[in-house]
Amino acid sequence: MCGIVGYVGKQECTEVLLDALSKLEYRGYDSAGIAVFQDGEIRVSKTKGRIADLKEKILKEGMIHGGSCGIGHTRWATHGEPSDINSHPHGNAEISIVHNGIIENYQKIKSFLEKHGYVFESQTDTETVAKLLNYYYNGDPMETIQKVLGDIEGSYALGIVFKDFPESVYAVRKDSPLIVGVGEGEAFIASDVPAILKFTRNYYLLDTDEIAVLSGGRAQIFDKYGTPVEKELMVADWDMEAAEKGGYEHFMLKEINEQPNAIKQTVSPRIKDGMPDFEECGMTAEKLASYNNIFVVACGTAMHAGLVGKYVIEKLARVPVTVDVASEFRYRDPIIGSNDLVIVVSQSGETADTLEALKLSKRLGADTLAIVNVVGSSIAREADMVIYTHAGPEISVASTKAYSVQISVFYLLAFLLSYARKMISEDECRRLTSVLESVPNMIDMILKQEKSCQYVASQLINSENLLYIGRGLDYALSMEGSLKLKEISYIHSESYAAGELKHGTISLVTESMPLIAVATQRDLFDKTVSNAKEVKARGGKVIFVTHDYINVDDDVADYKIGLPTVDDILMPMLTVVPLQLIAYYTSVLRGNDVDKPRNLAKSVTVE
Ligand code: F6R
Repeated sequence: MCGIVGYVGKQECTEVLLDALSKLEYRGYDSAGIAVFQDGEIRVSKTKGRIADLKEKILKEGMIHGGSCGIGHTRWATHGEPSDINSHPHGNAEISIVHNGIIENYQKIKSFLEKHGYVFESQTDTETVAKLLNYYYNGDPMETIQKVLGDIEGSYALGIVFKDFPESVYAVRKDSPLIVGVGEGEAFIASDVPAILKFTRNYYLLDTDEIAVLSGGRAQIFDKYGTPVEKELMVADWDMEAAEKGGYEHFMLKEINEQPNAIKQTVSPRIKDGMPDFEECGMTAEKLASYNNIFVVACGTAMHAGLVGKYVIEKLARVPVTVDVASEFRYRDPIIGSNDLVIVVSQSGETADTLEALKLSKRLGADTLAIVNVVGSSIAREADMVIYTHAGPEISVASTKAYSVQISVFYLLAFLLSYARKMISEDECRRLTSVLESVPNMIDMILKQEKSCQYVASQLINSENLLYIGRGLDYALSMEGSLKLKEISYIHSESYAAGELKHGTISLVTESMPLIAVATQRDLFDKTVSNAKEVKARGGKVIFVTHDYINVDDDVADYKIGLPTVDDILMPMLTVVPLQLIAYYTSVLRGNDVDKPRNLAKSVTVE
């Protein structure tokens, strides 16, 4: 989704803005632009396309020696196609703005402004905010912004420059991310920490409708009434290296390989004397055991992590768990109340639907727990309790290490809940916990066998369609494998509960429809074998993912990917790795932009 940056300081502003924007490329975008002060004037350069195109344009336009103050933007189109005119910044010679989010009442504001003689050039909602700022502008930026905040509805992170204040950048946010970075005699705004890591690790989190004023090399923050507020200074524990490729060809491959360490970093602090422990986030064993129902709400891969959580919690702790896609949860009038726990899961912590589902859950009286990767993100701040996953920055659009750390948290919660409900003994809880701790070493082993995944990818590259099947936990994994493959390889892929195949979908099976069967749950193994045989008998090509020690006959599969063995319930921690690698290599072999697949954004901050 859109990325925002802003800078005030002594460095060459255009270069700082372009560098910071390049660190936000991972969010997904289709156009880019900047506004900088040059000889007291606001100069704007913007274009459809990549940051490289913007750089070229800036050079042509002689803006590289822009001043020491400006704003920048990468746009992911929502209102109006990607085009030069729809790109940000928007505004005029007096005021220029960049915006992330959606102004829901922009039509109303637009009609009002048109009646006052304003003429609109773009199809964007953002232009209405730029013009509304002009309408209210009285020489006092703070007062003007306050008036605009009173009128606009929806989600926004805004960076604003006023011609009359050529040394200052103003910023404000609601439901869209924005941080305020502070360095030695310089200050920044950015949608995310990686944008500023090269310059500083110190930043403030901006709360709803707080106004940041970057001026004179420092940042001041005011509440919506203009009263200065003291904010806690945050220090990013990610360094530049964490946000760089570090010798890997793609971020996705780097992040797949980072999983063993990410799991260790996430799991270790939540184990005390061999037992799971979440007291740091306010979740005791007694409290966890007190809920009647658990709901897991998330989107995409994070929702798939929730499905693993459901199987594991229900199996071990016998507490009903309902998993919802966040965008549906809100509109199905969910029956939840004060004795229920809603767990929201999100890597970015900014996914609009998940955030809204969280707010709804709170209104309905449920306790809310967020499993989130990005520290200080909107979801983390909104939830009653937060368990941070320590995966480090996930830059590739396709989520990999975030999934692994999310499910590792679900395992610990399930072990603790099961023990608290006396479903398992303390010894069994300790044993399961220590098996989970041994998983990172097993993933290291799987990562060394990447050749088999490369081979499978080479068999898939010419396919137009693909099926994944599995039963129980393997079904949850097949959904994640299928999503990963389709989003980066652009091969149409569907996942089915293995038993469902013959209720319709098997009619699609031909020689050109490969099928990946995930079969790690040994009590269900024979049944999935039968389903695979049915596909083989109809000419389909079958790839089997199962335990290393299990032999798979030729009439079942054409190829087997073998995994080390742990308790079946913990197999998802391992199974996901080859599924990620198959997706990755298929995308590479098809020549796709692996880290930035078409049409996708990393952080989905609009509904
Ligand atoms: C798929 C993927 C998405 C995200 C989803 C939720 O690889 O990355 O499906 O999982 O958009 O994002 P977060 O976890 O940031 O809420």
